[in-house]
Amino acid sequence: MSDIETLQTELIAGIDSADTLEALEAVRVSALGKQGSVSALLKTMGGMSPEERQTQGPIINGLRESISLALAAKKAELETAELNRRLATERVDMTLPAPDAPRGTIHPVSQVMDELAEIFADMGFAVAEGPEIEDDWHNFTALNIPETHPARAMHDTFYFPDDMARDGQKMVLRTHTSPVQIRTMTSQEPPIRIIAPGRVYRSDSDATHTPMFHQIEGLVIDKGIHLGHLKWTLETFLKAYFEREDVVLRLRPSYFPFTEPSVEVDVGYSVINGKRVIGGAEDWMEVLGSGMVHRKVIEACGLDPDVWQGFAFGTGVDRLAMLKYGMDDLRAFFDGDNRWLQHYGFDALDVPTLSGGVGA
Ligand code: DAH
Repeated sequence: MSDIETLQTELIAGIDSADTLEALEAVRVSALGKQGSVSALLKTMGGMSPEERQTQGPIINGLRESISLALAAKKAELETAELNRRLATERVDMTLPAPDAPRGTIHPVSQVMDELAEIFADMGFAVAEGPEIEDDWHNFTALNIPETHPARAMHDTFYFPDDMARDGQKMVLRTHTSPVQIRTMTSQEPPIRIIAPGRVYRSDSDATHTPMFHQIEGLVIDKGIHLGHLKWTLETFLKAYFEREDVVLRLRPSYFPFTEPSVEVDVGYSVINGKRVIGGAEDWMEVLGSGMVHRKVIEACGLDPDVWQGFAFGTGVDRLAMLKYGMDDLRAFFDGDNRWLQHYGFDALDVPTLSGGVGA
């Protein structure tokens, strides 16, 4: 056997017995590296006579070729084996343990809206909705709000540009939930008993005002409705909402364009450990606007005010939440701070029911 054949046999045996990629690399370097045995043979070709090169050249090149092929084949084999080994032993565990308790919470605004819906459902009220992008007629005109009313002032109302007018109506972000009164009366036959919770918008921002906030509207239209019905309804609602029997109301004459007469409703509170607690009548705070629906509003909706009467009320949902659950900065409601939500949020399974106490 020639030296070259011996070398080839040795190298092939080395390649065959390499059982790791590192061992195989060592064989490659020993053969084809700068100081490698095959590289050394290739270098000898430079000093050969042309005849010698003709016979030895193909043999040496053949050696290099066969060693390269054997190395590549063995490398592929080892890589496949390595991959198979990893596939067999490594696993991605997709069954991550569940957290101890559900992390998300129900926002106090959602919770209070659910509580209100529950309380009013018990009194026979349905929930109604209207668009947040409202036209001037529903938001103002039909509610008997004249051009000069402060709610129309540029600094209060978010108006859309004139070229976004619809049917000749300027569009606004609704400034209150009262337009849902109009939408309900124009689309539904009386008797009507609805509440309409939702987002409203005003260009105003400080500790007690945010440009977007939440209101709830109430509307009853029927025959022979009077202020007594209004007072009973609000009293029943506030007692259920604050979960106290000693809630005392005070009705004060007021002015809203869409009600006549109009009343502002105060609720009595006591100061306990420096905090206002609803109940008793140590002092008063305003919680609601309300009144008997104005004849002009009933007429604007195509109903005969000599046949149909009713009352309406409106209040801030965020404010009701603050009064019941003790937050003092409205802006935090909309910061999305997880710590605040963990502290003030409600368990998703805590569905408000009247029997269980709506805020339980
Ligand atoms: N829309 C009024 C506001 O945003 C609240 C209000 C007052 C609503 C009296 C009513 C009502 O339905 O009768 O300030």
